[in-house]
Parts: sequence; C-alpha cells; structure tokens
Amino acid sequence: MSQTVLVTGGAGYVGSHAVVALLERGYSVVVVDNLTNSSREALRRAEKIAGSSPVFIQGDIRDVSLLSTIFNEFDIDLVMHFAGLKSVGESVSRPLDYHEVNVAGTISLCQVMQSASVFNLVFSSSATVYGEPSSMPIRETFPTGKPTNPYGRSKLLVEQILEDLAHSDERWSIGVLRYFNPVGAHPSGLIGEDPKGIPNNLLPYVSQVAVGKLPRLKVFGNDYPTSDGTGVRDYIHVVDLVQGHLDALRVLPDMNGVHVWNLGTGKGYSVLQTVEAFAKVSGCEVPFEFCERREGDIAECWADPAKAYKELGWQARFGIEKMVEDAWRWQRLNPDGYVDQ
Ligand code: NAD
Ligand code: WQD
Repeated sequence: MSQTVLVTGGAGYVGSHAVVALLERGYSVVVVDNLTNSSREALRRAEKIAGSSPVFIQGDIRDVSLLSTIFNEFDIDLVMHFAGLKSVGESVSRPLDYHEVNVAGTISLCQVMQSASVFNLVFSSSATVYGEPSSMPIRETFPTGKPTNPYGRSKLLVEQILEDLAHSDERWSIGVLRYFNPVGAHPSGLIGEDPKGIPNNLLPYVSQVAVGKLPRLKVFGNDYPTSDGTGVRDYIHVVDLVQGHLDALRVLPDMNGVHVWNLGTGKGYSVLQTVEAFAKVSGCEVPFEFCERREGDIAECWADPAKAYKELGWQARFGIEKMVEDAWRWQRLNPDGYVDQ
C-alpha cells in the first residue's frame, strides 16, 4: 500500500512542485493550506501534470482541532512542512504574525503529530540561519549565525525547537533542509512562483522586467567584494530542490534524530551573471540600474552540498540556464500568475 504524506503549504511555490513529485512517485497526498499566499489553481495544475489528485483541505496549521481531524481521518506516514510566511521585509513590520505562523504553527503541527504517533518530518529551513559566514562554501557544521530579521529568527527558532523535540523522544526522525535560493518552475510551464505584488526576489523581478510588467531591475549594490561587485547566490532549480525532499523522506524513517542538509548546487552566480543568463535565454532585454545595497544583504552565499550527496545520494542536476529557461516559460505562459476560477 502506498504511503501517505501530509504536505502543509502544498499550494505554495515549493509545495506545489513537491505535490507533483510525490503523486508521480505513487504517494498518497493530503494538502493543508490556508491559501494566504497561494491559489487553489496551483493544485488543479499539479493534478493535471501528475494525472492524479491530492486531497485538499483549506485550513490553518495553527488550528489544532483541524490538524487532529486530519490525522484521525487519514493514515499519515510522513509530513512535509512547507507552510509559513516567507517575506523578509514583511517580517520586520509583522514580527508577531511571522512568529505565530512559523514558530507556533510548527509547534501545533508537532504536537498533533506526537499525539498521532507520526514522527517523520521534513522541515523547510533556509540558508539564512547561517547569518554571515566567514568563508564559502557553507557546510552544515558551520555555526548558525545571527539572522538579521524576524523571518530568519523564526527559522532558527524552529530548528532549535526541533532539536529539543528529537532529544525528548528518540522516535522522531526530522530532516531540516536548508534551502539556498530556489528558482525556476516546472518544465511544463503549468506551475511556478506567483508572488503577490512587486516581487522581492531577484528571479521573479527579472522575469517581470523581461515580460514588460516592470520597467527595470534595481541592482542592490555593485561594490561588494565579488567578481563584478554584485551579490552572489546559489540558485537552485525548484525541481532539484523537491527531489532532495523525496530523498530525505526515503531515508529518514531509518535515521533517528535531527539531520540537517544543505540544498544548493554548490555554485554561485552574481546578479549580473543571472541577468545575462536570463537575457540570453529569453532573447529579451533586461534593463537595470545600480542602486544602494539592500539592508541585511550579504555579499555572497553558496552551499557545500556534499553531505546531501553522501547521505541522500542527492545532487542538483540543473544549471542556471535551465533554471532561467523554466522560469521564463512559466512567466511567458502565465504573465498574471494563477488566475483563480
Ligand atoms: P509560499 O508562500 O509559496 O508557500 C507557503 C504556503 O504556506 C502558501 O501556500 C501559504 O498559503 C501557506 N500558508 C501560510 N501560512 C499558513 C498557515 N498558517 N496555515 C496553512 N498554510 C499556510 O512559499 P515557498 O517559497 O513555497 O516556501 C515554502 C517554505 O520554504 C516556507 O516555509 C519558506 O519559508 C521556506 N523557504 C523558502 C525559500 C524561498 O526562497 N522560496 C527559501 C528558503 C526557505
Ligand atoms: C538575490 C540577490 C540581492 C532583488 C532571500 C531571503 C532568504 C531566502 C531566499 C527564504 C541579492 C539581489 C534582488 C532585486 C537585486 N528566502 N537583488 N535586485 O536575499 O539571497 O534571499 O530569498 O528563506 O531568506 O533573504 O534572495 O532573490 O532577494 O536576492 O539586486 O530586485 O539579488 O541583493 O544579491 P536573497 P533575493
């Protein structure tokens, strides 16, 4: 019989790609999402790609009685926990919401999992927990830093809570996946990233400039100590990222405790290199101007993904060209994102 995975935040950007991958590999999938930053249409499209359907429950991970009902009704084996708020800027003005959803929401989820004796959890963390490391590439053994915003602190707090939880009961098997910079879209062009309002992140912003929705990119700083002065990041294709979750899900039940894995390619690209790759693939001009550095940004950030390769057999397959090609297909086919019906 197939295993059943509860996917929190399954209608979101990374979650919807995970739903496709899980369904394609024969898992039964139950999604809980309150749709605050996503659309029901994403799951309809996921069904179309995978040829089968998840169960969808619209609801909030802070709602313990709803979660209990879900665990009573479905025989959940594993949980992939994507639900959360993720805008760094917004977290500064709404810290209580960020801590309530990201931290208290995770606590509620773990409480209900514990009551239901479900101890396999994959959690979406972020490279932001490393703060500003003194060298590159970043290994999992690097100390966690001092995140500069409530979003980053909420991720670090959850990691610490999960450590405490695993210490309290050895039945827990928890995978903490520290994402570098997820980009791109499913190659079908049916699902992708659909930011509300003006995008904060580089690739969605560049896509909207290329499609003509925004006039030009503001490059935040050209005086960093990098090859061309602009910030360097480890962009990772969302399909590769999701494969890392499936690999973690496979090995976790045989590994007790908390296991941390970096999910990145191990290669860094500057803002200008990324813009150049986008212009080449799309054939569109991407006008830009240099501006002041953005507060809280670091010069460079890229992963050493060796641990994930060694322990999960996982490595990223797609390079920057494929990432921007798929991001561009999604943007071109869906210039206004998902239009919910
Ligand atoms: P997203 O916003 O697209 O997806 C999150 C989903 O959670 C959305 O569908 C949203 O509606 C849902 N949600 C929010 N609050 C909820 C609540 N209280 N109850 C139920 N559902 C709720 O974000 P994403 O890019 O898919 O990110 C997924 C996870 O990965 C998040 O935890 C995020 O912090 C983490 N992460 C993302 C990135 C990135 O750059 N995308 C990087 C590192 C880590
Ligand atoms: C990438 C580079 C910018 C926009 C953020 C979060 C992090 C994680 C991923 C969730 C940087 C530059 C960007 C623009 C620019 N999210 N840039 N002009 O900051 O590495 O990471 O998203 O966990 O926590 O902080 O990603 O895409 O915003 O920026 O010049 O309009 O592009 O300065 O060098 P970042 P990003």
